This record gives sequence, structure tokens and C-alpha cells, in this order.
Amino acid sequence: MTLFFQRIKHIVWFYPLLILTSCSNDDQYTSIPENSTYAFEIPSNFPSLKQDISNNYPTKYGVELGRKLFYDARLSKDNTISCAFCHEQSSAFTHHGHDFSHGINNLLGTRNAPSIQNMAFQSEYFYDGASNSIEMLSIVPIHNPVEMDETLPGIAEKLKQDSEYLQLFGKAFKNKQISSANILKALAQFMTIMISADSKYDKYVRNETGGTLNSQELVGLNLFQNNCASCHATDIFTDNSFRNNGLLPNPNLNDLGREIVTGFSNDRYKFKVPSLRNVALTAPYMHDGRFGSLQSVLNFYSNNVQNTQNLDPLLQKHPTLGIPLNQIEKEAIIAFLKTLTDQKFITNPEFYHKT
Ligand code: HEC
Ligand code: HEC
Repeated sequence: MTLFFQRIKHIVWFYPLLILTSCSNDDQYTSIPENSTYAFEIPSNFPSLKQDISNNYPTKYGVELGRKLFYDARLSKDNTISCAFCHEQSSAFTHHGHDFSHGINNLLGTRNAPSIQNMAFQSEYFYDGASNSIEMLSIVPIHNPVEMDETLPGIAEKLKQDSEYLQLFGKAFKNKQISSANILKALAQFMTIMISADSKYDKYVRNETGGTLNSQELVGLNLFQNNCASCHATDIFTDNSFRNNGLLPNPNLNDLGREIVTGFSNDRYKFKVPSLRNVALTAPYMHDGRFGSLQSVLNFYSNNVQNTQNLDPLLQKHPTLGIPLNQIEKEAIIAFLKTLTDQKFITNPEFYHKT
């Protein structure tokens, strides 16, 4: 296990440097006549972007290439596992029904696959924040020995044998290269346009047709704002921080969370506050997928928050630990959470690629 984390640390800090220093700026899209910027809008109820996408702004062919790569199993060592294998569109790009994702050779990982949506509005990725860059984050699953176990140069070599890719890289990047940097850039462009902002809740906030919340959902929204939104903040539903929400550490894993990346014991058991968009579709819940339903999550917050090292002060402000909620209130919060389901996002053909 320690070796594995050392490996991740190595990858996270050194590999990006190599790639950054080896890639010049001459792959700007603007000078390629047949390519054009990709039309996507920042929803009016969203906070500002957290990633600087100006050096890798999504383009028509960059996105097309990123989508193709996302669904391509050649990104793994034995050509069996694509990103989409663990991130399925129908469940908001999570690994539906799996507490831990199994990757290459059926090896089990140690964390639950989170959704991929609104990534450019988030500042850090993975439950421990192992990456803070939308362009670099794909290195982590690609190199992870239990996910894809590949290398970027290894992928580039495979793709160079494929005329369709030769053409697409040529149209997407000025230097036309099938390179590590361009693979990462294309995946980042695709993840940038994966925006979920068309749930009933969004329509309610933006005063659009179809945006009527019933009385139970409104009660739930109010309870959510008073008890949950301090951490699950803004219309992205995360404040981009790492916190300990009082889960009893899983004895089989002893996952230290954020401490793995920072080395600080005051980061022990802190995990990234996940977005709750499409949460009704993304069971099981928490970094280790320990809860199978939203009802169990709410029961946990009301009855089972544990006073472990670095428990968040927000969960210690009531006479008992956690958030006091009765059954009617829990049901109202769940009804509200279901209004975050975005049918358009999980069926949008722009995020789907026939393989
Ligand atoms: C074997 C299953 C598996 C594969 C394949 C996989 N992932 Fe993941 N993904 C996960 C798991 C598990 C996590 C959570 C890991 C963690 O937090 O340490 C994750 C986390 C992420 C996150 C972070 C989301 C967040 O909110 O912090 C992104 C983005 C992501 N993966 C994108 C990708 C991309 C792009 C690929 C392909 C290059 C890919 N994944 C391949 C299982 C997988
Ligand atoms: C102190 C900050 C904080 C508060 C307050 C808080 N949460 Fe969380 N929440 C977190 C963190 C951190 C996680 C991730 C924990 C983990 O995976 O180890 C999380 C995870 C979740 C998840 C699992 C999401 C997933 O995709 O696995 C749900 C659902 C959730 N919270 C709902 C709520 C609701 C509903 C409330 C209010 C009743 C609430 N939270 C209050 C910090 C908070």
C-alpha cells in the first residue's frame, strides 16, 4: 500500500513537470482553419470556473478526440479498460453498483468512483486531492496499477497505429502530434464540456419552465441550506475543501484521506467534499461506498457521526454530534436531492461515443 502511494506521489509531482516542460505553446487551436472553438455556456447560476482553461480551450475536434479517448480501452495496458468502464454516463459517470471499482485484471481499487461533471468548476480532484489540474488528472487513473496500468507514451505508441487518430490529432492540435501532452489536453477538453446544469432544481433557480418544486422539495431545500450547504456549497454543491464528516475509518483500508497528499496529521480522515449533483443516481456513497442509499446517508448524519481525529467543527455545534433530523425532515431532504437529477446530462449524445 505504501509503495502504491509513493508511486502516486511520484507521478503527481514529477510527471506533470516533464510534460509541461516538453510541451510548447504551438498547439494553439486558433490557427487550424477547420477547427473551431466548442460552443458551451457557463450556466448563469454557477460560480466562476476554478480551472484556467484559456491555454486549452475546448475546440470542436479537441472535444471529439477527448470523447473518443475517454471511451477507448487502449488507454489501459491490456486494452480492456476505458475511462468509461468505471465512469458510466447513465449513472452520471460513476461506477454504478460498485463500492470499489475493479479495473485491469479485475483488481479492486480502494475507493468509490465519483461522478465526472462540472469538473472545470472544481479546484481539486480525487478524494484526497491527488491532482489540482484538469489537464493533469488523467495521469492518475492511467498509471494506477489497479485501474489502467498504462503509461502515456505507451498509449501514444498504440494510437499511432490508428489512422483515425492520426487524422483527429492532426485536426485538433497545431503540432498534430500524438503525444502525452495532447492526450491529456484532449481528455481535459472533453471533461470541461461535461456540464450538468439542467435539473429541476436548476430550472427552479433560474426561473425556467419545468422548475416548480413541490412543498416537500421546498422544505428539503430549506433544510439543506441550513444544515448541508456550508460544505456542499454553491450550485456545484461543494466548497472545494477537504473535511472529516465523521465516518468511522474503514478498518480494512485505513484510508487517511487528504493526509496522504499533504503529509499533515491535521488532514487525517479529511476527504474532498463531493458534489451532490445527480446524487440519486450515484449510489453507493462516500469514498469507500459504504452506504447503499440516501436514507442511510441521512441516518448517518443524524445518528452516527463519530468523534474521530479532525472531525469538522460544523458537525459538533449541536448538543449531540452530527445534524439533528427527524424522519420527515430526512425524507424532505431526500426529495430535494432528487431534484438534482439531470436527465439531459445522462442522455446527452455529446457525452457518448460508440465504440
Ligand atoms: C478502474 C476504474 C477507473 C478507471 C478505469 C478510471 N477511473 Fe476515474 N476514478 C476512479 C476512482 C475509484 C476514483 C476515485 C479515486 C480517488 O479518489 O482516489 C476516480 C476519480 C476520478 C476523477 C476525480 C473526480 C472528482 O470529483 O474528484 C476524475 C476526474 C476521473 N476519475 C477521471 C477519469 C478519467 C479521465 C479516466 C480515464 C483516463 C478514468 N477516470 C479512469 C475509477 C476509475
Ligand atoms: C462538515 C461538512 C459537511 C456537512 C455539513 C455535510 N456534508 Fe455531506 N459530505 C461531506 C464530506 C467531506 C463528504 C465525503 C466524505 C467521504 O467520502 O469520506 C460528504 C459526502 C456526502 C454524500 C455522499 C456523496 C457521494 O457521492 O458519495 C452525501 C449524499 C452527502 N454528503 C449529503 C449531505 C447532506 C444531505 C448533508 C446535510 C444533512 C450533508 N451532506 C452535510 C461534508 C459535509
